[in-house]
Amino acid sequence: MDSMTLILFGATGDLAKRKIFPALFNLFVEQKLPRRLSVIGLGRKPYADSEFQAHVELAVRTFSRRSPEDRLILDEFLRSFRYAALNVTNKEGYRELLALVQAREQELGISEQNRMFYLSVAPEFFGVIAENIKQSGLGSGRGWKRLIIEKPFGHDLESARALNDQLSRAFDEDEIYRIDHYLGKPMVQNLDTLVSANPFLKALWNNRFIANVQITASETVGVEERAAYYDGAGAIRDMFQNHMLQLLMMTAMPTASQDTTGNIRRRKSQLLKLLRPISKENAANHVIRGQYEAGTIQDQAVAAYREEPGVDPASTTDTFVAARLWIDDPAWEGVPFYIRTGKRMKEKSTRIVVEFKNPLREASGNAGRESVPNLLIVQINPDEKMSLQLNGKNPLSGRMESVHMDFAMPTHQMPEAYELLLSDAMRGDATFFAKWEEVELAWLWIQPVLDAFEENLLPLHRYPAGSYGPDAASVLLEEQGFHWWLDD
Ligand code: BG6
Repeated sequence: MDSMTLILFGATGDLAKRKIFPALFNLFVEQKLPRRLSVIGLGRKPYADSEFQAHVELAVRTFSRRSPEDRLILDEFLRSFRYAALNVTNKEGYRELLALVQAREQELGISEQNRMFYLSVAPEFFGVIAENIKQSGLGSGRGWKRLIIEKPFGHDLESARALNDQLSRAFDEDEIYRIDHYLGKPMVQNLDTLVSANPFLKALWNNRFIANVQITASETVGVEERAAYYDGAGAIRDMFQNHMLQLLMMTAMPTASQDTTGNIRRRKSQLLKLLRPISKENAANHVIRGQYEAGTIQDQAVAAYREEPGVDPASTTDTFVAARLWIDDPAWEGVPFYIRTGKRMKEKSTRIVVEFKNPLREASGNAGRESVPNLLIVQINPDEKMSLQLNGKNPLSGRMESVHMDFAMPTHQMPEAYELLLSDAMRGDATFFAKWEEVELAWLWIQPVLDAFEENLLPLHRYPAGSYGPDAASVLLEEQGFHWWLDD
């Protein structure tokens, strides 16, 4: 693909500033953008092109992993950018936008008329924008058209379906690129290769050898300035329905049958279909919800969730969710998957810990007692590394002790999630985007749990800020004789 137009709705917003412009700049420096590129930024307020370009420059300088030292390169990058004010509900505005897009296509020789629409706006505008793109003719260029949207894809099963119906009136499913930025994280993208391309792991990736799997995404931040959204969503919608289930899918989906990493999306949906349903009545036995109280994080006193600005002082919104999941597949029978995510926890850590069975333990004798289970630890954030916990013999004491084989990714060269995802979308590779089937299956699975939350069928546990969440989340594992690894 030689040329394209990127039409960015919400170009003066936070996501564009922090993620999209820096990602575009890094791709530009690495020559991964189309040779002829037109970027049209759209926002509510009017700005001159030069003002907008200055805004993009500041975003790149502040947030890009590469500092734009070379003025000439930066100027060349910025020349692609134009700006237009648009009220997204005003049909006339889209006709003017079409004229601008066409004028730039002519000017830059973008004869293919490939057009990518990135909706970096609140989800309530997705439907109306998609419709107007279609009606105005913006979506009827000679080349391809693609739509990029970000979660939340709905608030529950019903609204997600309604949103999808609206979008599919203007775009085919294979033209819609749904971003779940966890799928853009290099370590997450690595998971399938790790298992499918290493015969020793592939052979062990089942219930004969794996005792349990623990997936954690803990954050130290609280609700920040997003109370208006978060108080109506909670951790279950904000993190669990999407990011956490994606991590589960990426870990437990069937491995590729050949030495290929293809068909990831199909294999993920397959896995979701095998996820044992949790009924509303049974949710309390498998799901723990929590909310943070005041506490201390890294020596800083922080307020309780209910005292955060914009939060209802009587709010019962979950800022923590843990769950025990089972997969009804012969390969995973009897292997619990424990998942937890929360705000204001002790540390920022996104990781997957696979605990292997330890037959030595069951055998008698010292060796058994001293041995630790083998663990595969995939650290996704903040560092990107893998570690294998093994048993070794300490030559000084002659005793067995745990040793770790570590592999860390070279952090300074790591592309960011948005770079990988944008570059994939431009090339038309949808592997690491969520397709509708898996989004719908995830809502279907989670809806009874949402209902149980809504009807207060399970307790809301309090946990102090700076902790690992409520104790009840440990009980979930203790019931099978396990504990969370790496909490210290
Ligand atoms: C977002 C959530 O999707 O992911 C935020 O809306 C959360 O609440 C964020 O903080 C976490 O992302 P990351 O990449 O920092 O783990």
